[in-house]
Amino acid sequence: MMQVLVKDVWKSFDGGRIEVLKGVSLEVAQGEVVALCGTSGCGKSTLLNVISGLEEVDRGAVRVAGRDVVEESTRVDLLRHHIGYVFQLHHLIPDLTLSENCLVPVIAAGARRQQGLERLHELAEATGVAHRLGQRVRELSGGERQRGALVRSLMNDPELLLCDEPTGALDERNREKVFELLLELVRSRGRTMIMATHDLELAGRCDRRLRMRDGTIEGESH
Ligand SMILES: Nc1ncnc2c1ncn2[C@@H]1O[C@H](COP(=O)(O)OP(=O)(O)O)[C@@H](O)[C@H]1O
Ligand SMILES: [Mg+2]
Repeated sequence: MMQVLVKDVWKSFDGGRIEVLKGVSLEVAQGEVVALCGTSGCGKSTLLNVISGLEEVDRGAVRVAGRDVVEESTRVDLLRHHIGYVFQLHHLIPDLTLSENCLVPVIAAGARRQQGLERLHELAEATGVAHRLGQRVRELSGGERQRGALVRSLMNDPELLLCDEPTGALDERNREKVFELLLELVRSRGRTMIMATHDLELAGRCDRRLRMRDGTIEGESH
């Protein structure tokens, strides 16, 4: 069973006027770290949204861990317990502290707060934002927000991690640190990751690279 299976997925916006995904198919096995490459506007973020169930498809199949994402109760369960998502624009809540933001998925999953706090401190330490946990997100730098979003996505130890340009707002040194950490966390636990990026150097360190172009996957390199 594939961890992620996308089959002939079509997705348009604006009542069909803007076609974004035009028959995308892909398979990702459990434990694989896959880069999704392609120029801006080719549909990477839309594809990640479709895999997570945040966007509905026009047609085609999307399965995560063998379960149909199109089904609403499945989608909610997957989002609560099995999928982590690092958004391109982080989507943290500006008026809550970083710590509060990171506890949101813990609460949604129904886990114990204390358990969440222990993991939060571990992850924040590892990503270098431990000293910023009590700060409101609006007071943090772009890089701190992105690292914070990474922490939040990992709080429930998801089997599938979707990352949308996770190091885009980081300087060279932090980019390296955060990516290494991400790889280590994902690989050491046999987790699966799909990362949208136009950074070819980072893509080169993934197991596979899928090349996206104009709404389809046009090629793949190992
Ligand atoms: N909600 C939306 N409504 C209309 N157009 C959208 C929407 N989301 C994305 N698009 C369009 O779909 C195309 C692909 O966007 P996106 O998936 O964000 O690409 P990428 O992440 O590869 O840069 C772009 O032309 C974008 O403008
Ligand atoms: Mg994008």
